[in-house]
Amino acid sequence: MSARTRVLTGITTTGTPHLGNYVGAIRPALRMARDAGTDAFFFLADYHALIKCDDPERVAGSRMQIACAWLACGLDPQRVTFYRQSDIPEIPELTWLLTCVTAKGLMNRAHAYKAAVDANTARGEDADTGITLGLYSYPVLMAADILMFGAQRVPVGRDQVQHIEMARDLAQRFNHLYGAGEDLLTLPEAVVDEDVATLPGLDGRKMSKSYDNTIPLFAGGPRALEDAIARIVTDSRRPGEPKDPDSNALCAIYRAFATREQGDAFAAELRAGLAWGEAKRRLAAQIEAEIGPMRKRYDMLTVHSDQVEEILLEGAGKAREQARPLLDTLRRAVGLRAPRPASAPVMRPGPSVLVGRFVTFRAKDGHFHFRFLGADGADLLLSVPFDTPQQAGNWIGVLDKAGGASSFVWGRQGLHLEAGEHVGGHACALWYGDERLAESGPFASAEDCEAALRHLVAELEARWRSLQAG
Ligand code: TRP
Repeated sequence: MSARTRVLTGITTTGTPHLGNYVGAIRPALRMARDAGTDAFFFLADYHALIKCDDPERVAGSRMQIACAWLACGLDPQRVTFYRQSDIPEIPELTWLLTCVTAKGLMNRAHAYKAAVDANTARGEDADTGITLGLYSYPVLMAADILMFGAQRVPVGRDQVQHIEMARDLAQRFNHLYGAGEDLLTLPEAVVDEDVATLPGLDGRKMSKSYDNTIPLFAGGPRALEDAIARIVTDSRRPGEPKDPDSNALCAIYRAFATREQGDAFAAELRAGLAWGEAKRRLAAQIEAEIGPMRKRYDMLTVHSDQVEEILLEGAGKAREQARPLLDTLRRAVGLRAPRPASAPVMRPGPSVLVGRFVTFRAKDGHFHFRFLGADGADLLLSVPFDTPQQAGNWIGVLDKAGGASSFVWGRQGLHLEAGEHVGGHACALWYGDERLAESGPFASAEDCEAALRHLVAELEARWRSLQAG
């Protein structure tokens, strides 16, 4: 058993990140991830976004903005497993297994659902007006997010603690029903950081999109930051008059970006008569000093969203490598045969985890090929013909040494994987320079083709990682 702690948290992808998200969630989570004893899993909860938002453009835009924001703030995808919930098909599968052990009465008590019912009742409407099953069973999806990766600690805001407790309940119930004395699922614990003050917004209430009192983190550049700070509500004390540093949000926001000494000095100057205008100017400069360099990275990443996409796919590959063996175990435990031959024990990456493999074979015409078969034996890639089996074997060696599917995606080492139009339809192709090495397809649509490419990348990545580990 390793003594490492597995930390996991999700970020619902609606909206654009603001300073409150940065101070309350992004910054503390990244600090936690830097701890050497921690394995961090951070993900974009885009299935959760669908519960709140039915605007496809907004869902798509927000998940990219939020991914860019986390990377710009210093998330290192080599250290943190960073992925999108919707790229992990094991999560909805586990959601169903959990749904079947979830007492309806437990869901009746979930805050988000209860609040919606109360609002309906207060308006004199039917209790269920506008309430979807998505909202109702939101805590089950969230439990699957957490339990899928054996998370021990889940950093969240106060409002989410109930959901973590529900995840614990469901894990316990599942273990009790199906574990035969074994803990199939790990019981998670909520971590609410009391030191992380909630940042006040422009009007002094908690900074929140629902109060329309936010200061943007990156959007709009330094100008938008200054403009928002100019709107912080202050009293009418004139320059030179003593001011109460706690009479508005200015000082509290300043402290979130300063050392204790700097914060105390700022408060002392206000008491000594510093003008509100000058105080706001200093606040903007103080924040900019921390986030300015990050904004530059953010702007870069936003332009290169294809690279961000690749980082996320690579993260999904890593995450699925963890998820798959556990899900197989759970399927067997409930009596559904695993969708592939018996696989490794729970959560132990390495050579024992079932992953894809390369095979060579001789075709009827006498030529040799290699194939890449997925973990479940599915045919994922077929090479062009070679004259000798050695040639085919050599390429397998090259691919296995290439450094993970990311190398193919990023075009490192001359290798390149792409989805595109091909004679006969859409196909994925693996290139070495301008030599076409292998392909898969044809697929009926561009979407199918891209999904196949994502799957292929995840499988190649899983294989490479297992070679590394073993
Ligand atoms: N529901 C969480 C929120 O709105 C986001 C979330 C989804 C999450 N899945 C999670 C947080 C799993 C922690 C763990 O903030």
